[in-house]
Amino acid sequence: MSALTNSSLWQTLKKHRETLASLTLRQLFSEDPARFDRFNASAGPFFLDYSKNLMTTETLDLLLNLAQQANLPQTIQKMFAGDLINRTEHRAVLHVALRAGRDAPPLKVQGQDIRAEVQQVLKRMETFVHQIRSGEWRGYDGRVITDVVNIGIGGSDLGPASVMTALPADCTGPRVHYVSNVDGAHLTYTLKSLNPAQTLFVVASKTFTTQETLLNAHSARSWFLDAAQQEQYIAQHFVAISTNEVEVSRFGIDPQHMFGFWDWVGGRYSLWSAIGLSIALGIGMDKFNELLAGAHEMDEHFRTAPLSRNLPVLMGLIGLWYINFFDAQTHAILPYDQGLERFVAHIQQVSMESTGKSVTLDGETVDYATGAVVWGGAGTNGQHAYYQLLHQGTHLIPADFLLPMRSRVPLGTHHRVLTANVLAQSEALMRGKTKEEARQELLAQGMSGEALENLLPHKVFPGNRPSNTLLFEELTAHTLGGLLALYEHRTFVQGTLWNINAFDQWGVELGKQLARSIEPELSEQGMTSVHDGSTGGLIHHIRDTLFG
Ligand code: F6P
Repeated sequence: MSALTNSSLWQTLKKHRETLASLTLRQLFSEDPARFDRFNASAGPFFLDYSKNLMTTETLDLLLNLAQQANLPQTIQKMFAGDLINRTEHRAVLHVALRAGRDAPPLKVQGQDIRAEVQQVLKRMETFVHQIRSGEWRGYDGRVITDVVNIGIGGSDLGPASVMTALPADCTGPRVHYVSNVDGAHLTYTLKSLNPAQTLFVVASKTFTTQETLLNAHSARSWFLDAAQQEQYIAQHFVAISTNEVEVSRFGIDPQHMFGFWDWVGGRYSLWSAIGLSIALGIGMDKFNELLAGAHEMDEHFRTAPLSRNLPVLMGLIGLWYINFFDAQTHAILPYDQGLERFVAHIQQVSMESTGKSVTLDGETVDYATGAVVWGGAGTNGQHAYYQLLHQGTHLIPADFLLPMRSRVPLGTHHRVLTANVLAQSEALMRGKTKEEARQELLAQGMSGEALENLLPHKVFPGNRPSNTLLFEELTAHTLGGLLALYEHRTFVQGTLWNINAFDQWGVELGKQLARSIEPELSEQGMTSVHDGSTGGLIHHIRDTLFG
């Protein structure tokens, strides 16, 4: 048994969970009229109602003790202090330093104060953003840049893309497009309506070795040169964001047109660094700074608020409660804001790449579940697609409902209807509909006898399905920054409690290695090497189909 599952606290939580087996949320609310007041917390513009969870004050106390047992407060301080908490890569984890602002206190990474470097890159970004947005920086034929194409994948795509999707009202600069997939259709269709003379490519890759990004960047370069004809024009149309100057130069981008960042910024936490350049080009540097400031506000809350009032801590612990004590395997993020559609995909990477681990920091295999499958999408669309399974399916799927209370795009009664729907969904999941309630409803509709009895079981909703509701005032750059940081820290909390490294991602390597060796085998002259029967069979089938 691991130290965690062997701990008396873990065992107490297990027993405690059994005592809750017969309790229902309906009951908990009817027994405690103050439940809503007891189970909420706020931070800046955010208000979290976590009363619709299968927990009591005792549960919360036990979970908070578990956090103390895991040294969560100390580990939070270590992250902010720049300790090398990413132990397998021997790195600090300091995306928080990117948004700490000009007046941040000194912060040393391996003896070096990093504040000046952070500010320097922000300054360079600001100058460049101004040049592009003002039209001072022009394309090779003298016309202004109208379109920016960010070429990146994973953290070099999802974070920036999710921000740009969330803030259409702030997009005042050139149109910003994102190309990530190595499927050539992604680049081809994106470029179809663009004019090479007015397009800027931002090649975003922390390592600058990512196959998909480099291939897309090379193809973009060919597309550009087909029109521009002269290599010298590349300088005006390609910039890079990376930590790898050597590879950037090898690609043919002048290091002067490279924006750097540092190994202490994880890919999935990098939108706050120069990787956010496409955001700043689209919404301007002032709004980008608002995004950083909103995240910093959440960082300060996370760093200083007591665990029992700390939003990321509470959300992390509640998530863990279901994963480890209710065998929940997935977690739904359900934003009621169309702009947050991509947010789910970004948080999916933040969470799943971070907590998809099965050995502890000490290299021992865990004997408890770790990260959940994170999924979801914008309400109300999901209501007409997958919510059926949430309401009447056999899985327990804890959900986070997110809602800006005010719309930035008011249109008649739309936002009130949206709000009513999100509240109705969490209420329905929690309350359900009993057999008796369903029977009365059918009777009222004039149904009776065998027909009623046959239909009745299908009309029952088990209810007792947990959710959080996170309200915030409006989806601005500032609140979005806070929201992103909240989920980053929620992930950190879970990683710390599970004693895993939430900052590496070795699991993605094997597939990359194999793809590199399979790719030449797919050409007409390619030689196939030894594979398992299935993979070998598929390679032959594809080759036979394509080349006969
Ligand atoms: O393969 C996974 C990954 O390394 C992610 O962690 C990262 O966000 C993505 O690939 C892109 O990496 P890079 O920015 O180095 O191209």
